[in-house]
Amino acid sequence: MVHLDRDYLEAVPALIGGREWVLVTSTGWASRGAIKAITGAAGAPVAVVGDVPENPTISYVEKLTSVKPADLVVALGGGSVMDAAKGLTALQALGGDIPRFEAHLRDGEPLPENLRPPPLICVPTTSGTGSEVTRWATIWGDEKVKFSLTDPRLYPSDAVLDPSLCLSKPRELTLSGGLDALSHAMEAVWNNNHTPESDRLATTAIGSIRRHLSAALERPDDIEARREMQVAATIAGFAMGTTQTALAHSISYPFTALFGMPHGLACSFTLPAVAEYNMAEDESRFGAIAEGLGCEIADIPAVLSAWFDEMKLGTAVGHYISAADIDGLGENLITRARAANNLRAVDGATAKDIAKRSLGDLSGSGAGSGAETAKAAS
Ligand SMILES: [Fe+2]
Repeated sequence: MVHLDRDYLEAVPALIGGREWVLVTSTGWASRGAIKAITGAAGAPVAVVGDVPENPTISYVEKLTSVKPADLVVALGGGSVMDAAKGLTALQALGGDIPRFEAHLRDGEPLPENLRPPPLICVPTTSGTGSEVTRWATIWGDEKVKFSLTDPRLYPSDAVLDPSLCLSKPRELTLSGGLDALSHAMEAVWNNNHTPESDRLATTAIGSIRRHLSAALERPDDIEARREMQVAATIAGFAMGTTQTALAHSISYPFTALFGMPHGLACSFTLPAVAEYNMAEDESRFGAIAEGLGCEIADIPAVLSAWFDEMKLGTAVGHYISAADIDGLGENLITRARAANNLRAVDGATAKDIAKRSLGDLSGSGAGSGAETAKAAS
């Protein structure tokens, strides 16, 4: 259940209801006094995991087998915290069976039928991931490969949305989160698994992000903008929860794993080119995006590019990669499962071309056009 616009220090204790609980959070939130605040309001948990890193790895999550089980888990943080908490609940339900956990992640083996993970209450502190309403978690292999923990029993029982937790977020985190949510909504539309309902959710999320992301970037303490972005990210999460992601996410993972680019930048800087690529397959599917952006279908790539320039996405992305970096990636640029969801079939060379062209098209990325940079690098 999603609890909108609530004070998490009131809502979470009410949901815990005197039961034994485990708190999962990041060092950042721990240092900002979140552990003290929430335990002061809800009573002491049986265990605190207060050191979730960005992009948690399998080996990190497996260390959580030592955490004392409880009636429920509360995750306070961004996508990494919520994903690590899902890993914890799955591992606890598996009785700490690490080989079975790894077989699921690495080989896609289903989790056992009798799996009963403890309920998970998510309190997102960023607006983007949508993990508070999805059944999966991203967990990284120590070899920088991305794996998915996926099971309907991992849906959080509750998501508590408190926009005050998003106030004062740094610009890059706001930008990355907002664009991640935008990417979730758009990828739900050009997706083989789309439904009329996921299209409607995507339109709502895209429209809200278009109206409010710039305000959140310009005025980090604008509570109204934060509230709207938080709700939009959750709505985009519901859309993605139906469809999974597609080509833009498929292309993104090496940029995060190898160059440390924040996920939301990596999965969004290609959106204008991915839109254009997919529009060539079936433009009629793009009404849901055009309506959200408030433009004609044919103008979607140009409207996105102009908007990205306004938000200086090129500068943000250029901080992490150059065209030469993309050249060095070989053809290993797509994740098959995500690409298979995409409206139009794609191969590694095409994905690479999309990434290079996208980087070249971003003003301020310092990359020049893809063709020029390729020439310079050869
Ligand atoms: Fe994403």
